[in-house]
Amino acid sequence: MIDLASPLTFKNKFLIFGGGFSGEYFAKSIRKFGCIALTSSRSSKNNPNSFVFNSENNLIPENSIFEGVTHILSCIPPDKDGRDPVLKSLGNKIKNLSLKWVGYLSTTGVYGNTYGDWVSEKDEPNPFQERSQRRLNCEKEWINSKLPIQIFRLPGIYGPGRSTLEAIMSRKIKVIHKENQVFSRIHVADIANAIIYLLQNKNHLNFHQIINIADDEPCSQIEVIKYGYQLLGLKMPKIILFEEAKKDLSPIAQSFWIENRRVSNKLLCEKLGYKLIYKNFKAGLNNCFVSI
Ligand SMILES: NC(=O)c1ccc[n+]([C@@H]2O[C@H](COP(=O)([O-])OP(=O)(O)OC[C@H]3O[C@@H](n4cnc5c(N)ncnc54)[C@H](OP(=O)(O)O)[C@@H]3O)[C@@H](O)[C@H]2O)c1
Repeated sequence: MIDLASPLTFKNKFLIFGGGFSGEYFAKSIRKFGCIALTSSRSSKNNPNSFVFNSENNLIPENSIFEGVTHILSCIPPDKDGRDPVLKSLGNKIKNLSLKWVGYLSTTGVYGNTYGDWVSEKDEPNPFQERSQRRLNCEKEWINSKLPIQIFRLPGIYGPGRSTLEAIMSRKIKVIHKENQVFSRIHVADIANAIIYLLQNKNHLNFHQIINIADDEPCSQIEVIKYGYQLLGLKMPKIILFEEAKKDLSPIAQSFWIENRRVSNKLLCEKLGYKLIYKNFKAGLNNCFVSI
């Protein structure tokens, strides 16, 4: 993965808006290349690499945070009106910076329901849920911003500390099965690594504005849960069929079962040559297991 002519050096300063699960992982990964990486959170932390940003009460970072910034990655979901929190609060500010690159973490929810078929970047978005419509709106805002934007569409994100294993251990999991239903997934390390791979090889790879980052093997939820119980050496409770389980699910939990799609990673992994660290949920969960 190391490109000797890599454009990533200590001269690069990344601002990562939304230092949550993926944002923090990306920050740690990019620092290994000598880059400066600051992450935002809504409340102040006792950490020199963290700054406060909250679009809801207009808590804006001070000017010094923006000094020397070359790259931005936004990991913040849309606001309730479907506006992008970073562009809404800081759009004018960041448009005046000399940015080499801006990344935006979006979701594959924008593709809507494909009834189990594969979906790629070539397919027109067809959001079914309101939250996916809001997301598509944010993607459009970023594209229209004229910033050097690259959008990453992500399926279910998991990784050490946030996986089926934690859900099993905290007894938050429901063992639900729905015939022919699959989900796509991505390990958080592959999100960070894929973005870094694209940045490192920016000068000789064709630029694509929208890229899916997903693993190779979409599969049913029950396969993942079974494997989780197996890794933990615990007995899996009885399987509940979705039709029976749905009356006890919250509207948001139900909504995840409404759409059924397989997300293609061919652009990233075949055309652009990225090699996944975790090709499927088994490899990914094995990694989560050793981190428990
Ligand atoms: N989780 C998934 O499975 C999944 C799948 C596909 C796409 N995505 C999307 O990918 C992105 C990263 O996901 P993630 O799971 O890593 O995110 P996450 O852990 O939920 O972190 C979200 C971050 O956004 C910040 N944030 C939220 N609202 C904000 C606001 N109004 N103003 C300022 N900051 C705000 C949070 O601040 P605090 O740190 O203060 O909480 C947090 O740092 C998100 O946009 C998410 O919706 C997630």
